[in-house]
Amino acid sequence: MEAPFKEKKLFTPGPLCCSRSVKEAMLVDVGSRDSYFISCVKEIRQRLLEIAQLSESEYTAVPLQGSGTYCVEAVLQTTSPRQGAKVLILANGAYGRRMGQMCEWAGLEMRLEEFPEEQRLDLAKVETILRSDSFSTVAVVHCETSTGIINPVEDVARLVTSLQPGAAMVVDAMSSFGAVPLEVSGSGIDYVVSSANKCLEGVPGFSFAICRTKHLLSCKGNCRVLSLDLVDQHLALDRSGQFRFTPPTHSMLAFRQALREYASSGGLAGRASRYKENRRILREGMKRLGFRELLKEEDAGYIITSFRFPEHERFDFQVFYSKLSEKGQVIYPGKVSSANCFRVGNIGHLFPKDMTTFLGCLEDVMREVGLPVPLS
Ligand SMILES: Cc1ncc(COP(=O)(O)O)c(C=O)c1O
Repeated sequence: MEAPFKEKKLFTPGPLCCSRSVKEAMLVDVGSRDSYFISCVKEIRQRLLEIAQLSESEYTAVPLQGSGTYCVEAVLQTTSPRQGAKVLILANGAYGRRMGQMCEWAGLEMRLEEFPEEQRLDLAKVETILRSDSFSTVAVVHCETSTGIINPVEDVARLVTSLQPGAAMVVDAMSSFGAVPLEVSGSGIDYVVSSANKCLEGVPGFSFAICRTKHLLSCKGNCRVLSLDLVDQHLALDRSGQFRFTPPTHSMLAFRQALREYASSGGLAGRASRYKENRRILREGMKRLGFRELLKEEDAGYIITSFRFPEHERFDFQVFYSKLSEKGQVIYPGKVSSANCFRVGNIGHLFPKDMTTFLGCLEDVMREVGLPVPLS
């Protein structure tokens, strides 16, 4: 018989740990047309706008089945007219480059501008690019989770508003929404994308786009993929409160509970302060153990941290990862092309005591594999 699975702590950018009460909220079967479920969807959409500090008269929150990638793809498809579309992607990591891949697969004309992975987007260069051409959509990542860097997306949006007023300004805020402040309306951001299973601490199953309604409605007929059409998804939700196709009912029930817990634990300020404290403990502990961070302090956010592999013959990432996992601690491989790194996230239902336990386990693993403590 298969051994029972023992839950582990996930120090990853998702799937990530959720509270027991969020998971328990799923223990009910509900029909998609049931008024109970329709009111759950309504509450979720309202709460998402509240978190983004946006009014229902100007913006709409549109949940979509599937992980975060589906919704980013939906926004790029929906904002690109069938004739004359040109998407500008400003990328300094894997998630930015993935948007380029989406355009390639969709046959959309695009310009993928790559910036160094270890630095924030350079606004002077962004300005030069914006002056050099005309774009229908400009897309950028807020927290580039492949390194943990936080990009100055509001500044980019202001440049887009003044230099490319006709373009849709799209922010992939997948791993930052709800925990890192983002000025949406004032900076001219038209679309923000995130998912249930990031800083809002729901279970995986759907993602969502917060859209400037007027712009969204101007996109009718653009999308080349039925299931990714955000205009139709929005219209159906507004008309009947229902999804067009089978909704992730259990994930939505869990997410409503997660949003209630988010509000009662201090909203964005509460979440940011817990994650910052998690990160402070991690950072100090890793420094004491001799690990070096990839990013400079001023560029690093408080969502996820990239650490360089120790330069030591006894270090083997696979062994390191497996031994930590055996102790119930799950880390993430690196995702930068310029350096060998691993990543440790501190988002999700993780608390300072979890960070301290993690550091203790890491130190034990270092000794077990024969690494010096601290690393020299
Ligand atoms: C910034 C960013 N964009 C996109 C994604 C893709 O999301 P998913 O893996 O849910 O499809 C992620 C996932 O971590 C992310 O961090």
